[in-house]
Formats: sequence, structure tokens, C-alpha cells
Amino acid sequence: MHKEIKLTVSGTGFVGLITAGIFADRGFLTTALDTDENKIVTVNKGETFFFEPYLPELIKRVVLEKKTLIASTERIKSIKESDVTLICVGTPSKSDGSCNLSFIESAAEDIGKALAQKEGYHLVVAKSTIVPETTRTLIKTIIEKQSNKKAGVDFGLCMSPEFLREGQSVHDTIFPDKIVIGQFDEKSGEKLEAIFQHLYRVEDDDFSKTWGTIFGKKVSCPKILRRSIETAECIKYANNSFLATKISFINEFANICERVPGVDIKHVAEAIGFDFRISDKFLQAGTGFGGSCFPKDVNAMITFAKDHNYSPKLLESVMAVNIQQAKRMVQLTENAIGDLKGKQIAILGLSFKPETDDMRNAPSIKIIDELLSKGANVIAWDPKAIEKAKKESELSDKITYANTLGEIFDNTDACLLVTEWNQFKKLEPKDFKKMAKPVVIDGRRIYDYKKFREEGIICVGIGLGEIK
Ligand code: UGA
Repeated sequence: MHKEIKLTVSGTGFVGLITAGIFADRGFLTTALDTDENKIVTVNKGETFFFEPYLPELIKRVVLEKKTLIASTERIKSIKESDVTLICVGTPSKSDGSCNLSFIESAAEDIGKALAQKEGYHLVVAKSTIVPETTRTLIKTIIEKQSNKKAGVDFGLCMSPEFLREGQSVHDTIFPDKIVIGQFDEKSGEKLEAIFQHLYRVEDDDFSKTWGTIFGKKVSCPKILRRSIETAECIKYANNSFLATKISFINEFANICERVPGVDIKHVAEAIGFDFRISDKFLQAGTGFGGSCFPKDVNAMITFAKDHNYSPKLLESVMAVNIQQAKRMVQLTENAIGDLKGKQIAILGLSFKPETDDMRNAPSIKIIDELLSKGANVIAWDPKAIEKAKKESELSDKITYANTLGEIFDNTDACLLVTEWNQFKKLEPKDFKKMAKPVVIDGRRIYDYKKFREEGIICVGIGLGEIK
């Protein structure tokens, strides 16, 4: 069935390129669309343009060996020649926190223009994160206007949100916890469900063997939830907002625990995590959440709720706690070494989390800004994100970037662990003892502070109540 179904995926960001790659790996003939010629050229060489585990091998295989994926800027032609279009373009934040839907509008216009020239049924699936009612009021309206065709009659329409995590996006696409299908009508939902069932079918083929071996589990069809379009849109925001709430909750508690002698937030989180109603996931206190999703999506829901005459107090607090959490790192540093003016501060980790070079809304940016505003000099090292930090982030040339991890300890007054990369987890007290007066501020609580202290290192961390 899949050989006959041709897919176009609009947008080659995280969601788009990974989705296109996985469908192509299962044998679907897939075209990845983008307006950026450089990205298209890169993909067609079988290469990638952002760091993500397993993605380079995947793209190389589907482009050069299986030849099931091509990338193109010819959007209307490609859509016209396909059966299904997945909209995976970005929905960044506007300055007021609301969702910028301009890429969605352009993608819908392309689809509408293509459908105007196409005979036969076409299924349109919105995968981008879009505020409730966008699929119906914006995407459907534009496609119907441009094509002069009717949703539910001439073309199908679904909203199917994505729950993949950066850094684990290949795993999460092959082994999702659930698939949510928001359907405009029964036929659209059935068509999309059949595609997912085909993608996740249990079969002893190359796809299942390769990924089954890599991740140590069997490919199988996840729970598929068929709901209304608007429910699917809400599910995505509720999912991300709840996870962000868990993080702000544990960070708030970490700040409270710091005021109680002898309490460690890690022990508190561990214990409450045993309660199956809470679970131990996403209870890691730290420097706060970043990335291209949580801050953007929680802010979009706040703006959406207010626009609909509701004051979302909990979500506003989630954001407020998150903003102040980065500053907590700087307060801990000041407590440890006093006035920061003229001090050399080393930052371990720049990306918003490990296994990605993504700098969007990274806590490191807020921490560094605060350090600079207090007159500190900052040197930073990250295993993957230095280039992006220099070229694409607000940090740019405001700080010094170390060439090696070792360099970071020279003439440094305090080391701030901001992103918990594996390289940093392996550091021992002897590494930090290269500093004249070793001070470690552990923003992700990866170090054994008792051991570090026994070795003469001043080691403090988020959520550690000191015994006075
Ligand atoms: C998040 C969601 O986890 C995905 O399900 C969703 O699909 C995605 O957003 C999206 O909407 O596209 P992602 O932003 O890649 O994925 O990263 P997460 O692993 O969720 O981490 C987000 C932030 O929370 C990171 O800065 C991380 O360090 C922080 N975090 C996470 C904590 O501070 N504590 C935790 O316990 C967990």
C-alpha cells in the first residue's frame, strides 16, 4: 500500500526532516519541501544541517541508498504529484508571546494552489504546533479559497500533533507513546490512521530490525486516539504545558528546599516520583526549561487564554518561576564567591539540553546575561553548540568560547554546570582542582557534592539545603 502513497512534508525543521526520514525509511516515497535552497541541496546530498543522534545515518540511507526521500523547493508541483501533505513548518513566537502563523499560511497557500490543479483526493495533515481552531479557521479556509475545493469532500483534513523530543527525536518518532489524530471528518481520520498503521506495522523487515536493534525494543503500533481537530490542537498544548508545569513545580520546591538545612531536592523528587500518580519523569530540578517548545507553547497558551477572556494564573506562574530560575544560578555563584565584578566565570554547557546543538531559549543565555550585567567575564564550552551560540544566538561575541574543555579551568573563579552533557558527568574533582580555588555551581545536580567537598572543592547546587 505504501509504495503507492506519495507523501510531501512541508518544512525541514526537526519535526519535518525526521518525519520525512522515518516515513521514507519505511518505504513511503517522500518529498521534503523547504524554501531554503541550501537545506534542499544538503538533504539531496544525503546530509543534514543540524545535530540530532541517528539522523545523519537515516538521511544518508533514505536519500542515497533506498532513494525514497528527495528534497525540493518546487512546492506546488511536489504537492500536486503526491497523495498526502504533512504540514511541519515552524510556528515561532511573536513579541507578544502569541503564535506566528505566517509559515502555516504560506504552506496552506501552496497546498491550495496545488489542489486547484489536481484531480482526485488529497489528505492534508497539520503537524505543526498551532493554537486551537487554527486548522479549521486558517488552514482549511486558505486551502478552500485557493483551490475552490471543499474539505471533507475533495480533500481530507487532519491535525496530528507531534510529541518528539529533540535529541531523542528519531527514537520518539519510531516509538511514540501515542498517536493523536484530530479529524475533520471520518474519512480523513481513517486515511491517516491507515498510514500510521502501515508505518508502525509489526514486520520482520529491515526497518524493524535496524531500529529494534538500535533501541532494544520491537516496533509496534502505538495507541491511536481519533478525536476532533480542536481536541488534537489542545492536547498538544496541554501535553507541553503540563511537562513545563512539572519542571517549574520541582524548581520552586528546590528553591524552598535550599532554605531547609540538610534537605536535598533530589531525595524529595525521588520519593514523590514513586507515587504512580506523580511518576519520576520531568522532576529534575535545574536551571529551568528552554528550547523551541516549552517557553513558546506555554506563552502561546497564556496569550490564547487571555484573548478568550480567561486569566491562566497557573501557566503564568510556570513561566515566572522559569525566568527566575536561571538567575538563581547567579545568586548561588555570588553566595559562593562574592561580588562578580571582574571575576572569570566558566559555563559548562550552552545548548538548552544535552544531545542537541539547539540554542533557542537556552537557560545558558539568561544566566550569561545576568553574569555579564554584574561585570563578570564569561568563558564557555559546549560539545556541540559553540558554533550556533556564536552565529545564531544572542550570545554572539559577548563571551569567550574555549577551544577545549580543559581550557575552561584556567584562571577561573567559578565553574557553572548548566547543561548535563555526558562529558561533564565524567569530570572528577581532580579536573576542577586545576582551578586555583575550585568552585563548582551545579545547575543540574550531576556531581556528588559530598565527594567534591571532601576534595576541598566548594560545590553548591540547585535545591541543596545547607546545614548551618
Ligand atoms: C518538548 C517535549 O518534551 C516534547 O514531547 C515535544 O514534542 C516538544 O517539546 C515539542 O513541542 O516539539 P524538547 O523541547 O525537545 O521536547 O525537550 P525536553 O526534553 O522536553 O526538555 C525541555 C526543557 O526542559 C530542557 O531545557 C530540559 O533541560 C528541561 N527539563 C526537562 C528540566 O529542566 N527538568 C526535567 O526534569 C526535564
